[in-house]
Amino acid sequence: MSAPAMVRNADLATLSTFRLPARAAELVTLDHLDQLEHLPEEAPPTLILGGGSNTVFLADWPGRILLNRLRGIRLTNLDNDEVRVEAAAGENWHALVRYCIDHGLHGLENLILIPGSVGAAPIQNIGAYGVELSDSLESVNAWDWRERRLVQLANLDCGLRYRDSRFKSSDQGRFLITSVSLRLSRRFRPNTGYQSLAESLARHHHGQPAPRQLAAAVMRLRRHRLPDPARLPNAGSFFKNPVLPAEQAQALLEDFPRLPHWPMAGKHLKLAAGWLLERLGFRGYRIGDAGVYHNHALVLVNHGQATTAQLLDLIEHIQSAVQDEYGIDLEAEPTLVGSPPA
Ligand code: FAD
Ligand code: EPU
Repeated sequence: MSAPAMVRNADLATLSTFRLPARAAELVTLDHLDQLEHLPEEAPPTLILGGGSNTVFLADWPGRILLNRLRGIRLTNLDNDEVRVEAAAGENWHALVRYCIDHGLHGLENLILIPGSVGAAPIQNIGAYGVELSDSLESVNAWDWRERRLVQLANLDCGLRYRDSRFKSSDQGRFLITSVSLRLSRRFRPNTGYQSLAESLARHHHGQPAPRQLAAAVMRLRRHRLPDPARLPNAGSFFKNPVLPAEQAQALLEDFPRLPHWPMAGKHLKLAAGWLLERLGFRGYRIGDAGVYHNHALVLVNHGQATTAQLLDLIEHIQSAVQDEYGIDLEAEPTLVGSPPA
């Protein structure tokens, strides 16, 4: 197997859906596992990129970007009901969900249309409409940079939490995920509990939806609420929904009884940051070309020529307004790469 393709001084703007201008010293495309051996041991700082839909470049990257393009999907029957789906990390997540629905395999319908690659899905334990990757993830195969060997991590070893995992926290940068194994079912048990999803299904008289009807309802909601990165660059939700101890959350709910919230483990509540931001008048707000999406206050967008400085001003302005009004620290959700220019 030959060495992977490499470009020097590569343009990153088109490799991140937020499209801030940035360059990388080296861009290496990985499309076969054996190519890992050809990477020099004394590697410059390496950052892995899949679809770039949750990575925002605030500055040039002085090292190497490894563009993950590993492909392949394999199905294994486990018993009459369950099937293991092993998908290489460079497969497109949405295409994988469609493939599973087409093959009568269920559990991922609510996660349809989430942009990006399969390999990035465990990084923040992708989730939508009441379902998270952790509900169907069996294991993750990864290259361990520290031990320089392939390892397998079971679901419970991945530290998957709301928009978080060991890959994003304690072991950030240690693993290159090469494939993901999911355990899916031939029996369809729709998860329709998420309020806006239930309402949409009811409007279309799909109280007991078929798999494709459920997936179609999720796509309708997403297309209505979220900007298409191909038309308006963005990285999805820019902030995590805050998770607070129940007591602190209840105090806020007394002041704002209409604030949407969801129970979380360990007597915590998750609050809808989009609602908090809309109430502060942030929908449509902008600093230069960095703005808040007009239809969803949790989504920041690049109106065309946004600069890092404008985006950082916007983030800072939103975070301090939320701290002043509600006493809450809003945490950015995407990976923010590079320190801001001095
Ligand atoms: P990238 O941006 O390429 O990478 C994200 C992070 O993962 C980076 O830190 C990167 O270094 C790391 N990484 C990527 N691949 C690997 C790998 N193989 N091994 C190790 N590390 C890796 N997310 C949700 O959870 N739910 C949603 O509903 C949702 N909706 C979205 C809607 C829009 C319009 C957009 C733009 C984004 C949305 N997202 C959502 C965020 C994003 O789609 C997910 O986080 C997705 O998993 C990112 O995939 P990616 O390949 O584009 O990741
Ligand atoms: N809301 C408002 N105003 C707004 C935005 C939202 O009042 O401007 C309200 C909604 O009406 C709803 C509640 O807030 O009652 C929640 O909104 P929504 O259903 O859009 O979900 P969210 O909490 O804003 C999260 C995820 C999304 C995921 C959706 C659906 C996070 C950070 N975001 O958004 O994921 O698609 O739920 O499950 O958890 C992403 O991570 O990039 C992402 C898009």
